[in-house]
Amino acid sequence: MVFKIGLLGLGTVGTGTVEILLNPEGRHPLLSELSLHRVGVRSLSKPRSVNIPEYLLTTDLEEIVIDPAVDIIVELIGGLEPARSLILQAIENGKHVVTANKAVISRYGSEIFDAANQKGVYVLLEAAVGGGIPVIQPLKQSLGANRIHKVTGIINGTTNYILTRMKNEGADFADVLADAQRLGYAEADPTADIDGLDAGDKIAILASLAFGGRIKLEQVYCEGIRKVTATDITYAEKLGFVIKLLAIAARDPHATPEQDLLSVRVHPTLVPKVHPLASINDVYNAILVEGEPIGQVMFFGRGAGSGPTASAVVSDLLNIVAVLQMQEAEIVSPVVTHELMSCTHQH
Ligand code: NDP
Ligand code: HSE
Repeated sequence: MVFKIGLLGLGTVGTGTVEILLNPEGRHPLLSELSLHRVGVRSLSKPRSVNIPEYLLTTDLEEIVIDPAVDIIVELIGGLEPARSLILQAIENGKHVVTANKAVISRYGSEIFDAANQKGVYVLLEAAVGGGIPVIQPLKQSLGANRIHKVTGIINGTTNYILTRMKNEGADFADVLADAQRLGYAEADPTADIDGLDAGDKIAILASLAFGGRIKLEQVYCEGIRKVTATDITYAEKLGFVIKLLAIAARDPHATPEQDLLSVRVHPTLVPKVHPLASINDVYNAILVEGEPIGQVMFFGRGAGSGPTASAVVSDLLNIVAVLQMQEAEIVSPVVTHELMSCTHQH
């Protein structure tokens, strides 16, 4: 059975996704079950670095999300609107959704997952946190046996890239930011990266998964790297630290079990050089999860960029195909697969 994809967005991540879909050789066999049906963009005249038939392109994104032939919508346009409305419209029309859009998920996740649950469709978001690092699925499933105490991450590639180059080369903030934009790491509006809001959206998502419930960006303390100076970096180095933009979600160890207080925050942090997160440099991200009985487990990899992020997008597509095929063959019931694929759980 072939599943038709409606792709919204052919920028950094959309292009990487199409490159994988059009070159399935040597990758997972289920890729042959995916077919690119339509691709929505803002401009039809823009040169594209990927060889895509022109007839697939359209600027009418609404037409894609209501197209009865489309099975799965991949939302890679970014921003809040029209991304949120298109995702909701896709769900309303019975489509499964894959998105890399942490801003929409962190702010409108409740609305989106409630709509998806009602319609019995899946919304997957592996690419929304940590670029190519598989972290959403492991938090949802593989670590499900644990009581998580703390999640600490370097989860913004742009700011980690900037801080690394400021430290290693004494590079100028504005120059390095321009490089991060050229390399496709930064958001369309890079203030989301610089001011910690992108990391805030991501830690809200991780905290929701790790601790249950639905945590929103407005509940997260966010401070970015705007005020970090070359002098701060030099003094930190002399004292045996590196400055990292950390995103932290932790249970308050002093709270009673009834209170179960959670602190969720993003801010520049002095990290001792011997700490495992101190050596995460450039565009790399890492997420350290601490829980019982697992102890510590760390996820590491490229946190932004076309190919790595596309890897996570396509992994979601493969998961959806695998589950739909198991349902089709009546190997598992939709109730079981719903629990496996749903993105929130209660503790
Ligand atoms: P880009 O800005 O590179 O690409 C956006 C694409 O969406 C472009 O193809 C653009 O069309 C299209 N688009 C944007 N708005 C509209 C609209 N209103 N109507 C029609 N088309 C539209 O973004 P990225 O690929 O970098 O990011 C996409 C998503 O992935 C975002 O949510 C981002 O946060 C997330 N993400 C990005 C990562 C990265 O490394 N870049 C990593 C992880 C997640 P056109 O090409 O015609 O301009
Ligand atoms: N702008 C984001 C970052 C992209 O730099 O981490 C990956 O989510």
